[in-house]
Amino acid sequence: MGHKWQALKDHHAGIQDRPILSLFDQPDRAHRFSARAAAMLFDYSKTNIDDTAKRLLIELAEVSGVAEKRAAMFGGAKINDTEGRAVLHTALRAPEGVQVMVDGADVVPAIHATLARMGAFAEDVRQGRFTGQGGAITDVINIGIGGSDLGPAMATLALAPYHDGPRVHYVSNVDGAHVADVVKGLDPTTTLVIVASKTFTTIETMTNAETARKWMAAKVANPAAQFAAVSTAADKTAAFGIDASRVFGFEDWVGGRYSMWGPIGLALMLAVGPDGFEDFLAGGRDMDERFLSEPFEENLPVLLALVGIWHNQICGFTTRAVLPYDQRLSRLPAYLQQLEMESNGKSVAMDGSALPTHSGPVVWGEPGTNGQHAFYQLIHQGTRVVPCEFLVAKRGHEPDLAHQHLLLVSNCLAQSEALMRGRSLAEATAIMAKKGLTGDELDRQARHRVFPGNRPSTTLAYPKLTPFTLGQIIALYEHRVFVEGVILGLNSYDQWGVELGKELALALQPMLEGRQSAASKDGSTRALLDYMTTSAA
Ligand code: F6P
Repeated sequence: MGHKWQALKDHHAGIQDRPILSLFDQPDRAHRFSARAAAMLFDYSKTNIDDTAKRLLIELAEVSGVAEKRAAMFGGAKINDTEGRAVLHTALRAPEGVQVMVDGADVVPAIHATLARMGAFAEDVRQGRFTGQGGAITDVINIGIGGSDLGPAMATLALAPYHDGPRVHYVSNVDGAHVADVVKGLDPTTTLVIVASKTFTTIETMTNAETARKWMAAKVANPAAQFAAVSTAADKTAAFGIDASRVFGFEDWVGGRYSMWGPIGLALMLAVGPDGFEDFLAGGRDMDERFLSEPFEENLPVLLALVGIWHNQICGFTTRAVLPYDQRLSRLPAYLQQLEMESNGKSVAMDGSALPTHSGPVVWGEPGTNGQHAFYQLIHQGTRVVPCEFLVAKRGHEPDLAHQHLLLVSNCLAQSEALMRGRSLAEATAIMAKKGLTGDELDRQARHRVFPGNRPSTTLAYPKLTPFTLGQIIALYEHRVFVEGVILGLNSYDQWGVELGKELALALQPMLEGRQSAASKDGSTRALLDYMTTSAA
């Protein structure tokens, strides 16, 4: 496999200064360097990937065993081998009748039984058959963090036009400000609280759940009756006092950041209804089928991953901006930060040896056009190259505001064009000369207006942000992470890197409370503890 990496690096060394624009001398480039998944279009022609690079990248995917490992994942093999677990979020969206075996048993019937229970509960709440002390449920608070928050919170916002249930709110941060701000103005007698935690031990979630229970107890005689839980730990939800009829379970082979397709999506289901949720699952299923069957050259998850590998490991660009020109996808970058960075931010290979390449990139972003008025300056003229990933819908949900959608789309297309094309010193000089500048001042001012260009981007375009399309997009990103992880040779499904901070936070608590000496701590931590605990304002 090493020789494929080397071949890619050698090829890149020879073409790195070639203008991307020159690749369009080949008239069918846009067609040949794009792929479709039904009505969705992924355009990667505005990158420096040419025929040779594409061939080498696909060969890299082949020799890395992507096809074999894909079959192993979908087939229930324990590919998360530091935790001894299968990786089967795809089973959460598998159709009835398909068999997915884990340890000799088909897991699909239980998944559909839980989905049916979720659907029945959601409809009881939405139709006012399940009530709070004060009557029909008007508000739902989902208390969870990480994978038990980011996915459903992102999707609830994304699917706002499809909301026809109670208002849904999300509390995640252990900062009391979060829960305090969310409950302010809510009526506890008509609020349902969902405690969403795979492990039911996460300190942020359990602390916020206790706070919510106290808030409710001030007005509600039996607060536990207005609580539901989503977890793999039935014993712990029972100990918390939540009736089993409102507990929705899932198995440990669903990773937290991959869990929104099952019970962790309950709050989303309450917002959009079981049918809307089913459409979302159908979108994910559609992408699964494409991922399993399309040749690599046309396989969207594989292509997204290969573009990612090209930019990060071959070109050495260390970050990736995710720029949805879709306001309702404003939480997509945060969701992808967990999905990509918790999955592929590792330093060791499956066998424990040091990774021979860098691991996944820093992922960040904001919706357009807002970002244009904030950080695009650096993307266009900074000294570092940031590959950009644009997302944009052909149509919005506001027919009366179609003119605004046109503006949005024109801005999106303009940005990818500007990044590639740039503006030369000669062009900038001509513009400034027209404004009357001459001599040294003309030259100085023109230099500030040069855009280096040749900055790569991809665009994912889709007809409209429906539940089905959102399901396709999220499954697309999940599989992209899988393919990148396989090529990098790491385990995308554990997250040991979050443990140390959790342990140290627990150890610091008694020091902050003044119950334990901080003598064992380093000088900086001791000084900060001192600042936090001394009485001076
Ligand atoms: O941050 C670590 C993590 O384990 C994530 O992987 C997970 O999504 C999150 O905490 C929440 O965990 P839980 O659902 O068990 O509360």
